Amino acid sequence: MVAGPAALAAAGAPAAAVARNLVISSANGLRACARAMEILKSGGDTLDAVVAGVNINEEDPEDTSVGYGGLPNEDGVVELDASVMHGPTRRAGAVASLRNIKTPSKVAKAVMEQTDHVMLVGEGALRFARAMGFPEYDLLTEKARIAWLTWKQSLKDPQGHNNWTDGLDAPREKKLGLRRMFPGVDDRTLAWAWQVALHPPTGTINCLALNARGEMSGVTTTSGLAWKIAGRVGDSPLIGAGVYVDQDVGGAGSTGRGEENIRIAGAHTIIENMRHGMEPREACLDALQRVARNFDNDVSRLAQFDLNFYALRKDGRYAGASLWSGPLRNGKVSPRQFVVNDGGDSRLEPCVYLLERKSA
Ligand code: GLY
Repeated sequence: MVAGPAALAAAGAPAAAVARNLVISSANGLRACARAMEILKSGGDTLDAVVAGVNINEEDPEDTSVGYGGLPNEDGVVELDASVMHGPTRRAGAVASLRNIKTPSKVAKAVMEQTDHVMLVGEGALRFARAMGFPEYDLLTEKARIAWLTWKQSLKDPQGHNNWTDGLDAPREKKLGLRRMFPGVDDRTLAWAWQVALHPPTGTINCLALNARGEMSGVTTTSGLAWKIAGRVGDSPLIGAGVYVDQDVGGAGSTGRGEENIRIAGAHTIIENMRHGMEPREACLDALQRVARNFDNDVSRLAQFDLNFYALRKDGRYAGASLWSGPLRNGKVSPRQFVVNDGGDSRLEPCVYLLERKSA
């Protein structure tokens, strides 16, 4: 079950690395890492760099796992979570269940810089963001609304009934299917909506940076689990789970099913593993093993979710690690890669993995 030497060898980390400008992120961070690297090259702060990087995803309506355009909760309301840690000052900030603000990572940074608190949630977080001058938006895009309605359509009682589809009185030949319900929507969007309805995703972006002075920071930001109960908070805004940075050791973060990461305090666990001498890839795999242990290594239950860790050590060694290899259980292309930028173009490198999935 546990990955052997071949999987370990797939990890991306050059030998004899030293502190240098370096940014890593989850697989959706090609542009984020490039922007963060530009800021590092111009001498900017590592936290400014990673936050500016993930702001690209947060403001992009096509990234349906983060910020504006993120998939909503079960009520159709987008609620965002984010956290930041700044290595040099050893400070942290976070927000959870934040509505109406496109860039929760910036609000988390403002919590860190402008308050004596570490975390604000819900209505209080929104009032704080307003006070800080953040503009408000309706974060539910048309694409996300279609996906949310598709999800509601997919829920049926044991008799196959659903209040959100046309009822018993509907003319038999005219019953609404997805295609007729959304006549102007292309097939690709409808197929995607059906996928995310059946397999609620937990996308997220984590981004970690190191500069040539050896300073480090990290950020994680997400719209969380699609169709969640209002107020559900995942791992992303929890310092020690979704992100952790110890200036003496390195940084770590996570994407995927937050509930399982919270139960092992993944990012902090990885930092402690590295503090005690593990390579980043070993540190991440050990964290994943703790997740597997929480399920008694029962692969049929573990197969029902995905979880990924990212680690960047202070000496410039790094890794991405996934619970599973191979295709996702919904048949989509595997995201089991992570992004690295060491001064040129951002590139994807393979994650090491704990368990091998042979088919979707
Ligand atoms: N990792 C994102 C979440 O579970 O909300």
